[in-house]
Amino acid sequence: MKKSVVLYKKLSAPLMARLHEHADVTLIDALDEAGLAKLRDALPGAHGLLGASLRLDAELLDLAPKLEAVASVSVGVDNYDIDYLTRRRILLSNTPDVLTETTADTGFALILATARRVVELADMVRAGQWHKNIGPAHFGSDVHGKTLGIIGMGRIGEALAQRGHFGFGMPVIYHSHSPKPEVDARFGAQYRSLDDLLQQADFVCLTLPLTAETEKLIGAREFALMGPETIFINISRGKVVDEAALVDALQQRTIRAAGLDVFEREPLEHGSPLLRLNNVVATPHIGSATHETREAMARCAVDNLLAALGGERPLNLVNPGAYVG
Ligand code: DGY
Repeated sequence: MKKSVVLYKKLSAPLMARLHEHADVTLIDALDEAGLAKLRDALPGAHGLLGASLRLDAELLDLAPKLEAVASVSVGVDNYDIDYLTRRRILLSNTPDVLTETTADTGFALILATARRVVELADMVRAGQWHKNIGPAHFGSDVHGKTLGIIGMGRIGEALAQRGHFGFGMPVIYHSHSPKPEVDARFGAQYRSLDDLLQQADFVCLTLPLTAETEKLIGAREFALMGPETIFINISRGKVVDEAALVDALQQRTIRAAGLDVFEREPLEHGSPLLRLNNVVATPHIGSATHETREAMARCAVDNLLAALGGERPLNLVNPGAYVG
């Protein structure tokens, strides 16, 4: 008998066909009120779940007594109660690797957009306010040759370092759990304490996961260590930052600008003070959002789910403690 899978993310036709071959599929079109009600109705029969952007806590998981596997279409797994999943021996998988380069591209897009004031000046042109050759009031700052500071030297951090080092001749400094000699060798990078990095980097870029340890890692004290020319980039998770402290630093111009793809609460409210600041470039969590990469992530999630439901260890297992082999 086929297993039951609940999808809370639409898949392409080929992936849908593949899933249908192996499972009975219930699709939740949207995570609105009606969709969440449908999800709750489907959970009691579900062996597998596949989707993203839904907080799957114990309360929801308790509605799914038969659940064997959850395949997240994301690299970040902060939406899941991993301890609870592990206790119930439910296999959680994610989609690393396939999004690394695209997410690093997003990071670099924000670096360039903030430093060269691309959005602000393009808006000026669109608004019909380009009346004469621009002068120093509209100048940006260089990216090439500046110091790139990366907090969290995982796969995405490395891909950012690669772009900075080879593409823009930037000295790379980084902070992570421990120094990584292979990163130092490849990119001429240098490990720093968090405080040293904040004081020395021209661009402070966050690429680390949200965990209990990293929540609000960057707050008022950390912004105070940055200089007035520092540009702050966040492509990790909004909750790694104390957003009120960030707003304060930007309003007081104690840092120069911020490029933000992630926020404490998403979608970002239109009334957010961040959106009233012309030294902020805000994007709607587009880190991995290209056609090619999202398809690759979905494919990876389907592979992980089918492996798990077939009794195999999924390639991208997040909680090995749940796997009994
Ligand atoms: C990820 O994969 O974690 C991206 O941030 C999308 O949520």
